[in-house]
Amino acid sequence: MMNYGVVGVGYFGAELARIMKQNEDANIVAVYDPDNGKTIAEELECDATESLNELVSRNDIDCVIVATPNYLHKEPVIEAAKHGKHVFCEKPIALSYQDCDEMVRTCEENNVTFMAGHVMNFFNGVHHAKQLIKDGVIGDVLYCHSARNGWEDVQPSVSWKKIREKSGGHLYHHIHELDCVQFIMGEMPETVYMNADNVAHRGEAFGDEDDMIFINMKFSNHRYAVLEWGSAFHWPEHYLLIQGTRGAIKLDMFDAGGTLKVDGKETHFLLHESQEEDDDRTRIYHGTEMDGAIQYGKPGKKPPMWLHGIMVKEMKYLNDIMHGMEPDDEFRPLLTGEAARAAIATADACTKSSAEGRVVKVSEILNK
Ligand SMILES: NC(=O)c1ccc[n+]([C@@H]2O[C@H](COP(=O)([O-])OP(=O)(O)OC[C@H]3O[C@@H](n4cnc5c(N)ncnc54)[C@H](O)[C@@H]3O)[C@@H](O)[C@H]2O)c1
Repeated sequence: MMNYGVVGVGYFGAELARIMKQNEDANIVAVYDPDNGKTIAEELECDATESLNELVSRNDIDCVIVATPNYLHKEPVIEAAKHGKHVFCEKPIALSYQDCDEMVRTCEENNVTFMAGHVMNFFNGVHHAKQLIKDGVIGDVLYCHSARNGWEDVQPSVSWKKIREKSGGHLYHHIHELDCVQFIMGEMPETVYMNADNVAHRGEAFGDEDDMIFINMKFSNHRYAVLEWGSAFHWPEHYLLIQGTRGAIKLDMFDAGGTLKVDGKETHFLLHESQEEDDDRTRIYHGTEMDGAIQYGKPGKKPPMWLHGIMVKEMKYLNDIMHGMEPDDEFRPLLTGEAARAAIATADACTKSSAEGRVVKVSEILNK
């Protein structure tokens, strides 16, 4: 039996805990959350600790799952690692390369796993695309293009997810596509250039994040990527396009599904685990439940079917690793915090580029 403690049991943390508990050889023994801890502990029939220290000091916890707001990940990760606990931390693991580096190093020094909650790696379609690339089906990858755009209406209250200092804004909060592009390219870009602005969401009714972000990246060997995010687009899009020397792959998160195009011929594959999950995601994106192509979870809300399916896979993977499973090479950098740190290094280079209005080398962040 592997025992888990969960720090932060709002929308995502509570569901990760419920899902983890369903594994036969896993148990949730304690949660810590000053606002929602007691309610979720009652539901999960576990303890609610009064402090973070009380949770990480327990001898009956093997691994700590951290799902606090983005700006509050660092302390629980470091404290858990220092107490010899393995760690799973939601994305983005932190909001600066320095913080990520400190977290990765502390986990390394204490010889504990540090898995990042980069769920895109568990999409069936992403795994399939990586395999097609590995098998040479689309030749050498030349270019990636991702877009995650929609329109944000006024919300009943301003979520921490819309406040730059707390979430990092779209670039950090939705680090998934950047991480995925780096996995596909097999490295960080050499240089980046970012234009970002808040063009349509100023004032008290909104947060202060940029609602339009455009990034241009140059990788080694004449390879490029263009990434967009934002909530000021009335024509919503959400996809990752991978262009190679022999063919191309599109992972469409909006009209959910994957397409391989070689010699003009298209072959379709699932983005998630079943046609039902893909169709459910398409239905949600085309309906009115979505706001800005982004689902704003909050305590008490339940994730949609496709996301729940991925969380089940992700928690089973974490639990199997805790039980001694050897990771595939594809997942190794996800289990040390390295991939997550590399994504934030590039995001920091983008932030610097936008602030200084120039092309920035990622090495400027790494060597700071
Ligand atoms: N991978 C994904 O697709 C995905 C989806 C949603 C959220 N997330 C991530 O999960 C994390 C949590 O997001 P959420 O949607 O659950 O937010 P949320 O606001 O619903 O929940 C956050 C919870 O943390 C608690 N909290 C605040 N400060 C705390 C502290 N110091 N110690 C312990 N608990 C504290 C709050 O009381 C709240 O219950 C974020 O990092 C977010 O980016 C990931």
